[in-house]
Amino acid sequence: MANSDNFRNRAAACEAHDDIPRSPGDAETIGDVIARRYSRREMMRGTLGVTAAAALFGPAAFAAGNANGEAAPDRFDFTELEAGIDTDHHLAPGYRAQVLLRWGDPLFPDAPGFNPSGQSAAAQLKQFGYNNDYIAFFPIDGSATHGLLCINHEYTNEELMFPAIEERQDTSGFEKMTAELVDIEMAAHGVSIVEIRREGEDWRVVLDSKFNRRISPATPMTADGPAAGDRRLQTDADPSAMSMIGTLNNCAGGRTPWNTYLTAEENFHGYFWTNECVPGGARPKGLGGNQAESYKRYGIPGLWQAWGKFIDRFNVDKVPNEPNRFGWIVEIDPFDPNSVPVKHTALGRFCHEGAETLVNKDGRVVVYCGDDGRGEYVYRFVSNGRYDPDNRAANMKLLSEGTLSVARFDADGKEHWLPLVFDEQWLIPYFGFYSQADVVIDARLAADKLGATRMDRPEDVQPNTVNGRVYVLLTNNVRRKSDQVDTANPRPDNAFGHIIEMTPPEGDHAADSFAWDILVQCGDPAIAEVGARWNPATSKNGWFASPDNACVDADGRLWIATDQGESWPRTGRADGLYALETDGEFKGTPKLFFRVPIGAELCGPCFTPDGGTLFVAVQRPGADGAEALIGFGRPSTFKDPVTHWPDPDPDSKMPPRPSVLAITKDGGGKIA
Ligand code: FEO
Ligand code: CA
Ligand code: CA
Repeated sequence: MANSDNFRNRAAACEAHDDIPRSPGDAETIGDVIARRYSRREMMRGTLGVTAAAALFGPAAFAAGNANGEAAPDRFDFTELEAGIDTDHHLAPGYRAQVLLRWGDPLFPDAPGFNPSGQSAAAQLKQFGYNNDYIAFFPIDGSATHGLLCINHEYTNEELMFPAIEERQDTSGFEKMTAELVDIEMAAHGVSIVEIRREGEDWRVVLDSKFNRRISPATPMTADGPAAGDRRLQTDADPSAMSMIGTLNNCAGGRTPWNTYLTAEENFHGYFWTNECVPGGARPKGLGGNQAESYKRYGIPGLWQAWGKFIDRFNVDKVPNEPNRFGWIVEIDPFDPNSVPVKHTALGRFCHEGAETLVNKDGRVVVYCGDDGRGEYVYRFVSNGRYDPDNRAANMKLLSEGTLSVARFDADGKEHWLPLVFDEQWLIPYFGFYSQADVVIDARLAADKLGATRMDRPEDVQPNTVNGRVYVLLTNNVRRKSDQVDTANPRPDNAFGHIIEMTPPEGDHAADSFAWDILVQCGDPAIAEVGARWNPATSKNGWFASPDNACVDADGRLWIATDQGESWPRTGRADGLYALETDGEFKGTPKLFFRVPIGAELCGPCFTPDGGTLFVAVQRPGADGAEALIGFGRPSTFKDPVTHWPDPDPDSKMPPRPSVLAITKDGGGKIA
């Protein structure tokens, strides 16, 4: 039986997982690269760009340029919002945010209304799930006002969902969690596919749509690629190793050119349990060789949830191969509600964050992925086959075969893609790799062997098809020591994150090497110790911390969503959405457009094709660090609530609810 002393706080477990460098220390990190890159000769020649110059000359040189704190003129046609934090969301003047979907809202004509005091798994499977993250909009018949919205539901917070649970349960061995509550949690995970239509100013859900669908950790799926059918994916329930059951911890994702949805399984390790209750890195008995090393490298079992207490397949002592069946990119056809989602093992297994896709100049398909852990890596997949705009069925096989590579950032400003291919380099039986299946199942171990660069938590890796570059969002890494910095991760105790810009040669995203530079280093530019690097046009409201999700608008400009977690008191401002110039005089200038209520993370920025609506996902309002806001603080959202966001009624019995908002401009037209 579980001993509560053996459970760590979930945040601590997450920290531990993210913070302990699991990759070898001999790999060169990006911070080393930057320091060596900007030589004295370059400085004297004056050939450095804005970012590099800022890195050399410090924040004062830039911050002083806009000491009055006013936003400078730029290409973004909106008045900047004031930074801050309170119990509501805020939007730049002249815009409107409609609450489109909230946790518990019906998705089907026969779905029960939301009743937080009478939840059930059956009801939840017909309702919008919890903790919305990535959003993709798929036009119907090319329309910008009618389409399918796909939304990930990343995870659940038991203390915020259930009136009877007043505190997080991972600190007490999940003693108050029951099989019934776990079933509800599972039903609240996964993906929602929803038909929506704009009528006048408002968007509405089409409840009787044939497309509406909930995908959960129990939805039947299949697999393809090198690990499909492999012995390490076999279980007693599935000797074929082809019949996967469900998806979980779906974080950021992607949308393919052939209009399918990619959902990324991120912190899958956290869902696994062991009878020994030894969190993070336990080696279950009876597992030898690479499997035990693999468990350790991935932090399995993580014991973040109680699922394995009640469901055998989430207990690694009972079903030791089940963790190998998670940590993949899953492709879903939103236009066929009977389609079977596919886990594409060719894209590797790690804590997947994002799967943004483009068609390369030669027709091959490229997918960029982050592995969100401290010291983890940036990956790229290039398909063997070529995109055919007239053959959707063939396109849906493109992610089945190709080359997975991992990034090494060198100090000379070059980034090299290192192919993860069995029987090449060190990926051989002597080192525990017996097939390409082993390479993709243990992508982290394989990347370790090749000397990839350990990054400061890679979240979205966002290609910009307008200017041809690629942006790597590195959210933070407070455990990087001063002797561990490198040119790509140049700050020790990196509490605020940074963004790297990669440039493929001649627009070839399949090339072996790219050029790279740092676009911005985040944090307050007025505090020299922070080491922030922004364009000097940045206002006192515009700078941000912890970049996480991103999208690119039709003009090739970035929109950055932030996730500071419980560390928002370091900046004194809520998370939000920031427009960020990527080219020209104002390159590297962020501008605040929207901010979330206390305790929330902003996710999933997504424009309609006409740029007229911006969908955003407000995840876990009332959670992170909410106790720190006087008058709001309490561990449970049901206990003495002082806000009911997004239900403003002060008599509401509703807790703050994860929600998707549709943002439009007063009077219509493009957002900015
Ligand atoms: Fe689920 Fe890395 O954010
Ligand atoms: Ca994220
Ligand atoms: Ca995040």
